[in-house]
Amino acid sequence: MYLTGEEQQMLDGKFGEGVSIAMKVLVAVGEAFGAERMVEITRSHVALSNQEADLWFVEKLVKAGATCRVSPTVNPGFNLEYFQQVKAVDRDDEEIIKRTRAAYKTIGATLTYNCTPYLEKNIPRFGEITAFSESSATPYINSVYGARTNREAAQSALCASVAGRVPLYGLLLDENRRGQVLVEVQAKMESDFDYNMLGYCAPKKIGFGVPVFTGLPIKTSPEALMNLGAQLNTAGAVSLYHIVGVTPEAPTIEAAFHGEDPEKRVVITEEDIKQVRDVISAEAGKIDFALFGCPHLTINQVAKIARMLEGKKLAVELWVCTSSLTKELAKRMGYLGIINRAGGHIVEDTCIDQPCWQFLYGKKGVTDSPKCAYYTERRNMDFVIRSISECIEAAIKGEVK
Ligand code: F3S
Repeated sequence: MYLTGEEQQMLDGKFGEGVSIAMKVLVAVGEAFGAERMVEITRSHVALSNQEADLWFVEKLVKAGATCRVSPTVNPGFNLEYFQQVKAVDRDDEEIIKRTRAAYKTIGATLTYNCTPYLEKNIPRFGEITAFSESSATPYINSVYGARTNREAAQSALCASVAGRVPLYGLLLDENRRGQVLVEVQAKMESDFDYNMLGYCAPKKIGFGVPVFTGLPIKTSPEALMNLGAQLNTAGAVSLYHIVGVTPEAPTIEAAFHGEDPEKRVVITEEDIKQVRDVISAEAGKIDFALFGCPHLTINQVAKIARMLEGKKLAVELWVCTSSLTKELAKRMGYLGIINRAGGHIVEDTCIDQPCWQFLYGKKGVTDSPKCAYYTERRNMDFVIRSISECIEAAIKGEVK
């Protein structure tokens, strides 16, 4: 793989051991994927997991003196101060989160602790070359903004942030952004929740390849597109999709397929979506809690929940995960007060897949996100999947119909 003089010096350790480690990883990734050279990035996002392996790697770079040329935004862990007030936090988990925070601060990350940075702080322009990890972030910036990133791991995105470049391969190249699978959506798409279900259902039929959706409404909310990408990239490994007439690289079907024929055609029906929901959703009945925010809820979604809870009392615990910015907005706009008075909580900087939720293990909840149900299976949490409105109704009654 060709390296410039500066890149060779970075690899050889002239810029310090930390930069050299980052370059070694990037060169290895580039060689594995047949990249011919590196390309500079202008922004990045690291999906830190607040788990031992992630901590080990970032501390290794910090000890070797690395700092970020491009400061990445970072994923949520959990809000230690909040959970210490409301529930007990395990000592080991407390130590990991403190060390994770310290290491990412030292390396020069921007401590956003939010998994939808593409809606708030880290918004690329069309064509911008970036290094994003996080399953809802990569499809959003590739598909909705037309920026470019591969499906980075937290570690490769961190190395790219340190080195300020990535190997040029995959979705950074025009030819790999061409649509491959034509997906005709016959199922009704009337709400943001429908996009959650479409995203979780579609990869089974798509297989590998860049999907091009037809049959979707032209007017689509940011929340719908956030849901679609999060679920596509969880149920499959879809980091780029096109929607004809909606996303920037698909003004027409011909443009989406770069003038070529689709390699495959599939249809998604109402029945397909129902079948997938029956598999991932627990059975209706009594529930113990409601959990939202995978990905982090937007202020519009928080407002919807607050409107439904105004003057009501919840029968079960309700948790909303979001960014610190959205929580602050919710406070200013009165939504936080309404949700708190109903007995619910808004917690910022926190991911649903963290050990702070131990008090919910072995219980049954309700959520609008198949990704939430999928990730928490390993933590013995069970979810009935419904739209946000149906979830709120269930949380008020303590039961899903
Ligand atoms: Fe966000 Fe964690 Fe879900 S990072 S998308 S809340 S698994």
